[in-house]
Amino acid sequence: MIGEENLEAVALDEKRGELLIIDQTLLPNEFRRIGLRTTEDIWEAIGRLRVRGAPAIGIAAGFGGYLAARSSNAADTPGMFRDFLKAKERLASARPTAVNLFHALDRLEKKFRTLLDAPRSVAENAILAEAKAIRDEDAAMCRALGENALSLLKPGMGILTHCNAGQLAASRLGTALAPIYLGQERGYRFKVFADETRPLLQGARLTAFELMRYGIDVTLICDNMAAAVMDRGWIQAVLVGCDRVAANGDTANKIGTSGVAILAKYHNIPFYVLGPTSSIDMTCPSGREIKIEERPAGEVTDLWYEKPMAPKGVKVFNPAFDVTDHALISGIITQYGVAKPPFEEAFEQFFRVKGIGD
Ligand code: MRU
Repeated sequence: MIGEENLEAVALDEKRGELLIIDQTLLPNEFRRIGLRTTEDIWEAIGRLRVRGAPAIGIAAGFGGYLAARSSNAADTPGMFRDFLKAKERLASARPTAVNLFHALDRLEKKFRTLLDAPRSVAENAILAEAKAIRDEDAAMCRALGENALSLLKPGMGILTHCNAGQLAASRLGTALAPIYLGQERGYRFKVFADETRPLLQGARLTAFELMRYGIDVTLICDNMAAAVMDRGWIQAVLVGCDRVAANGDTANKIGTSGVAILAKYHNIPFYVLGPTSSIDMTCPSGREIKIEERPAGEVTDLWYEKPMAPKGVKVFNPAFDVTDHALISGIITQYGVAKPPFEEAFEQFFRVKGIGD
């Protein structure tokens, strides 16, 4: 079954005390797992996008927090907690946009605070269990939201996806790619179009790589070809992931997502955002409050080229994400169901009914 034997973008080697990640900067040419021991190594790996995708970053931070506690030299739990807090602060500074990073670290801190009177070994085990729960819950949420999304799709549909929101970006099935994997198991024969997503080529390097592994019909296009494939009538739905969804439904995702949403609106194609509730930030009223990461100019001018492809010293603007206005979104698909506008009410109902978000 797809997702049972998955790529495992992030894993914990408990024996060695290492976070094991697939170095995604090397894909698709080289498949290499690397072991990360220290907070600094994990911070670097998140910042350099060796591990990326909102849920995967959250899982990495969860295990990173545990490893920091485990490697603390403190004799007691309060001392270990202080070392954890230092690591938490550092890891939280690795990237600013994906809210899963902060949710995972806050969740560990909350757990830690209930354990301050416990012996160190007990606290350490409880933190490990919490970090594993973040990963396991993500896998379950991805499957459930994939099923919810699949119920909106029909066999043979052409689907456009932007960036990579698959196994490499989360655990197990991923988010935007989850219904595609589930559909593949059930003979849906989707025709997927993967945007390459300049400047980092995640569609080309990661989504095409992932989908081809499972024999899924995938066609690679450059970002600026989306309008052309929509115009030809080849796309019946757009599925994208999210790094942070504000309370009103405005959604931060890989740069270029909002352009795809505008095109989809023009062509009357449903545009769906797929994400676990851990990507929803109810403390952010709208997209205006979401901090958008800006990345080095070299990603635009030099990276992936043999020679620089821009004049030396040219001014560059390189935001990693943009915000798609909620008015362009047909539905936000979570593990609890499909939120339709007004999104804030729908989210509140999810959180109320399921008793989460407290
Ligand atoms: O910069 P990245 O590669 O981390 O950006 C990833 C995305 O924008 C994904 O769509 C998002 O994190 C959702 S991953 C399930």
